[in-house]
Formats: sequence, structure tokens, C-alpha cells
Amino acid sequence: MSIEILPLAEADIPGAVDCLQRAFSDDPYFRWAFDDPSKFNVERNAASLSAHFKFGLSCGYPIYIAKVSRATGDYKPNPDREIKLAPGSVVGICWWSLPEQPPIRQTWSVWANSWLLSFRQLMYNIRFAGRGGLNVRRYWIWKERQQEAQDYLWVDPRGYYFCNMLGVSSQVRGMGVGKRLMDVVMQRADEEGIPCYLESSKGFPNVAIYEKMGFELNREIRCVDGEDICKLYCMIRKPKTKS
Ligand SMILES: CC(C)(COP(=O)(O)OP(=O)(O)OC[C@H]1O[C@@H](n2cnc3c(N)ncnc32)[C@H](O)[C@@H]1OP(=O)(O)O)[C@@H](O)C(=O)NCCC(=O)NCCS
Repeated sequence: MSIEILPLAEADIPGAVDCLQRAFSDDPYFRWAFDDPSKFNVERNAASLSAHFKFGLSCGYPIYIAKVSRATGDYKPNPDREIKLAPGSVVGICWWSLPEQPPIRQTWSVWANSWLLSFRQLMYNIRFAGRGGLNVRRYWIWKERQQEAQDYLWVDPRGYYFCNMLGVSSQVRGMGVGKRLMDVVMQRADEEGIPCYLESSKGFPNVAIYEKMGFELNREIRCVDGEDICKLYCMIRKPKTKS
């Protein structure tokens, strides 16, 4: 088995959604925002993720997947694990937002696709009778805290490549797939001399994993809703080649 890193294609969206849902099933932010498991609707969640991927593709964001292929790959094989995954399976996904330099002007394409995304979400709200278990109050708490953190940390006038989604299937973790997914855009960022940014709600082991990729922990976000607190770790990676 080998694993290829490819740009996301529309046909891969269902596989990418499935991979992401599994990768994030024990994610602290996910559990905080979908706080009542009895209300979680996996199909509504899949519809929302799928709509976001379509939005990302239409806007030209760098979105890459790791896909099982028969071709020779350069991933690190793990002789201790026998892995049987069908060719074509999506085993990793990585989505970046592009850096924006002030004054930030939304392009026509992003504006139009944002409206289309909102419309699709509205239709899903009707079809699935709600947000599928998302605690909307908590979602907005997170959005506000995230904005505060980014306003404080994003001081570089060149902007930041923002990795807002990374997930690797549990069967292939620790084999270099996450790093290969990240490397595509981190190398581009290095060539352009632009920093990278991410937020992770899983401190262990993710902070150590991202430190190995060159990120540094810069700030912690605390999303507080009554007794329930969700922490997110904000990390920045300085460009390697240019300053
Ligand atoms: C975080 C995640 C994407 C990492 O992907 P991965 O494919 O397992 O990571 P890699 O194998 O590419 O490892 C990258 C580096 O971290 C190291 N690493 C991997 N797992 C580690 C662990 N548990 N503890 C410490 N270091 C670890 C690797 O050795 C490698 O370092 P090296 O390049 O010096 O050898 C993956 O664990 C995952 O999907 N987790 C669940 C979802 C999630 O938390 N996503 C991130 C949200 S921000």
C-alpha cells in the first residue's frame, strides 16, 4: 500500500468527510460544541462538511487529501502494523485558508460562494430540522474567542496561511501522512516567506507533533460555557527561507 497526497477533487468529498468525522470523533472542541451525543446527527454533520468542502474548492483554497493508491509512495511504512485499506480510500485531509494582506477585500468569488454556503446550510437546517446537535451558543463563543486570538496574534503584514482542518485516519497515524499533507502548503509558505498558523484543541499529543513541524505555541484560547471549558492551542510557524 502507498499513500499519495493530492489536491481535493469533488469526487473525493464523501471520502474526505468520512475521514474527517472519524478523525475528530474524540476531538475536545468537537465534543464541547456537540455537547449532547444523543442529538448528534451524523448525516447533518456530513452535509455541512460537504458544503464547506464545495465552498473551499470553488474559492480555490489549498485543500489536500491523502489517498491510498497502488503507486509507489514515499511514506514511512510501519512494519509493526498490517494495514488493509482499499485503493482510493481517503486517509487524510488538510485544508488551509490563504494569507490576506490588509486592507482585506473579499473577492467576488468568495462573496458569492459564502452566500451559496449559507443557502445550502439553510436548506440543511430545514431538511434535517436543525444543526444536527451543534450547540450554536458554544459555536459563537468559540468564534468570538478565535477572533480575539487572531486579532492579537496576526501581526505579520504578509498575512498567515491558516491550517483550519487536519485529520489523519487512526490506522495510518504516526507514519508521516500528516506531515506530508502539511508540507505541501508549508513549503509554499516558506518559498513566499509567509508564516503559518493553526489552532488545536488537543494539547497532547498535537502540540508536540506540530512543534516537530516547526510551529511554536503562542497562546491558549479558553472557550467557557458555564462549567464546561474548551481550550485551544494557537501555534505559529515562521517561514524557513525568507524573513
Ligand atoms: C494530528 C495528526 C493530524 C498528525 O498526523 P500524523 O500523520 O499522525 O503525523 P505524522 O506521522 O506526520 O507525524 C509528524 C511528526 O510528529 C511526530 N509524532 C507523531 N505522532 C506523535 C505522538 N503521538 N507524539 C509525539 N510525536 C508524534 C512524528 O514522529 C513526526 O515527527 P518527525 O517528522 O520528526 O518524525 C493526527 O494525529 C490526527 O489526525 N489526529 C486526530 C485529529 C486531530 O487532532 N487533528 C488536528 C486538529 S488541529
